[in-house]
Amino acid sequence: MIQPAITGSGVFTPENIITNDELVVAFNAYADRINAENADAIASGEMEPVPHSSADFIVSASGIEQRYVMDKAGVLDPKRMFPHLRARSDEEPSIMAEMAVDAITKALAQAGRDASEVDLVICAASNHERAYPAVAVEIQSLIGAGGFAFDMNVACSSATFGIQAAADMVRSGSVKCAIVGNPEICSAHLEWRDRDCHFIFGDVATAVVIEPQANAKGAHFTIHGTRCATEFSNNIRNNNGFLRRTRDQMEDRRDMQFMQNGRKVFKEVLPMVSAHILGHLEDEGWRADSLRRLWLHQANKTMNDFIGKKVLGRTPEPGEQPNILQDYANTSSAGSIIAFSKYSDDMQPGDRGVICSFGAGYSVGSVLIERA
Ligand code: COA
Repeated sequence: MIQPAITGSGVFTPENIITNDELVVAFNAYADRINAENADAIASGEMEPVPHSSADFIVSASGIEQRYVMDKAGVLDPKRMFPHLRARSDEEPSIMAEMAVDAITKALAQAGRDASEVDLVICAASNHERAYPAVAVEIQSLIGAGGFAFDMNVACSSATFGIQAAADMVRSGSVKCAIVGNPEICSAHLEWRDRDCHFIFGDVATAVVIEPQANAKGAHFTIHGTRCATEFSNNIRNNNGFLRRTRDQMEDRRDMQFMQNGRKVFKEVLPMVSAHILGHLEDEGWRADSLRRLWLHQANKTMNDFIGKKVLGRTPEPGEQPNILQDYANTSSAGSIIAFSKYSDDMQPGDRGVICSFGAGYSVGSVLIERA
């Protein structure tokens, strides 16, 4: 059997930061405008006023302090509350492909591979810019890869599901050098006018390279096992889906952007994730106390603290379960890969860890890895 390994990873971080304070100023200006425009309806009790948001609430409820976005001006314009993402012509690279290429270039450099050696590109993300041709095929062309490419979408679990697909193909011998890219433009799918969720997401792209361990050129992580699970739920849902149909072109319906019942997600997904990781460890014959690191999906700090404690049977030590969501917010499928990419250099040969993502579907995916 061919043993698959992660031989490189990379992160593309957009230039623009929105702090909680900036976000809240924009939201509250929007709320004041709507309330002024509807003063009579509010006074007569026909309409509830839009309440103000608060930066203190955002930090305490989620752990998020700021987020990176592809466009800041549109999001912070109280008359707009939505990014300006210019529709690209068919002759131009798509925005997701551009973001992914940056992360992939970094991941390939770490693996010591040239793009021409790549024979599989999976673009695994929560939202895709168009139905077809697959963004992954465009990425394949832009980087000059061979082989084949396809898109997949399992919402926040897309990265780990993509890693399982790529690792299985490497293991079977059907591919020799696979890329899993996760360009996430969450800002285009977030309802920035909804106080309950306007702070949740940010934009980013990540990538990993997966190859037979025997071909690895440098430091790498053996993939010991992958496990994916799904269970249908409407508690996280987006009825629009494609970036190109932005609010400018579509009916302005609430269900055309990200929606969630955050409390239910919290209650239902937490036990699913901790049981999933513990079951995966047990079946692999790994003891939880042999884990040096947990790179978890980055949606909510309290959620991650709970999962870490449940899996390890104690409060994780600083550094055992790195969070990046204070800087990046929730970046959907990319979150656990950002954490892995930024917090794995210090792992020593024999150190073990788990990458785990979870979210809409519901879905949960885990990848057990060991520094070779
Ligand atoms: N500013 C100030 N107050 C706010 C607010 C804001 N932006 N948003 C909500 N509130 C208020 C609510 O109105 C509510 O007030 P009430 O108690 O008077 O009714 C209170 O704060 C608590 O709101 P709630 O929505 O219950 O907060 P929460 O503690 O559940 O935190 C989330 C909200 C979204 C951070 C949290 O539920 C979460 O992270 N859930 C899981 C999300 C997840 O993993 N999603 C996957 C997406 S990929």
